[in-house]
Amino acid sequence: MQEILECAVGAARAAGKMLLNKFETVHPVEKTKNNLVTEADLECEEAIVEAVRKDFPGHSILAEERRTGADVLSDHLWIIDPLDGTNNYAHTIPHFCVSIAYAEAGKPLVGVVYDPVRNEFFSSVKGKGAFLNGKRIEASRTKNVTESIITTGFYYDRGKLMERTLASIHSLFNADIRGIRRLGSAALDLCWVACGRFDGYFEYQLSPWDFAAGMLLVKEAGGTCIDREGRELGLTSKSVVASNGKIHDEFFRIVGWRE
Ligand code: IPD
Ligand code: CA
Ligand code: CA
Repeated sequence: MQEILECAVGAARAAGKMLLNKFETVHPVEKTKNNLVTEADLECEEAIVEAVRKDFPGHSILAEERRTGADVLSDHLWIIDPLDGTNNYAHTIPHFCVSIAYAEAGKPLVGVVYDPVRNEFFSSVKGKGAFLNGKRIEASRTKNVTESIITTGFYYDRGKLMERTLASIHSLFNADIRGIRRLGSAALDLCWVACGRFDGYFEYQLSPWDFAAGMLLVKEAGGTCIDREGRELGLTSKSVVASNGKIHDEFFRIVGWRE
């Protein structure tokens, strides 16, 4: 896995640098209402895809903006979100990242997430632990929801998913949670669970590029990741409930949701 990790690290660092260079000068266009894309998303994605193709020409690539339709269960699959947090980026809010994962048959084996603003590089190889700037990280030790800071995300939908997210936030406050945040980058939300800044994270509609790298980081840091219905999280999942593992049962009782 070392060569794959090195390729992912190099590509994420280069893309993060590109994002910083363009920060505050980009011109967003709407993919759909509230869901933006910028020239930075597209250029970074091209650069990452090129780096992967050069080193691993036979591998499949699933990248957000290209929509190549690669099978998430491919034997050798790269999953790329060139800019996670595009709305932040387009509004000059300095909280966004590059996320790259490598998976075999639906199982993420390598995950890297680079936050160029803080120069924080999260990396993980299955079975080898999770790291932030080369230092091992662990999920928090918080045991109760009342002492937890939880993060969440709203998908672009303003219908049922939004209603349900708001209902869960309400229930979390009823459970006397310490605090709730919505920072705008799913990949960083997961990394921040992995390094103990957040105790839990939930979001009801996501794509594999949003969480493939982050889910590996959470698990390798000792945390737990499932979907909103309580099933094991996989690349075909559409939602994520992640935590430090210790608040898992209580947290899932509050935010778990089956239609
Ligand atoms: C989005 C961010 C956001 C989450 C959305 C994602 P994008 O990704 O991760 O935090 O709430 O569900 O789609 O569009 O910025 O790559
Ligand atoms: Ca994303
Ligand atoms: Ca994106």
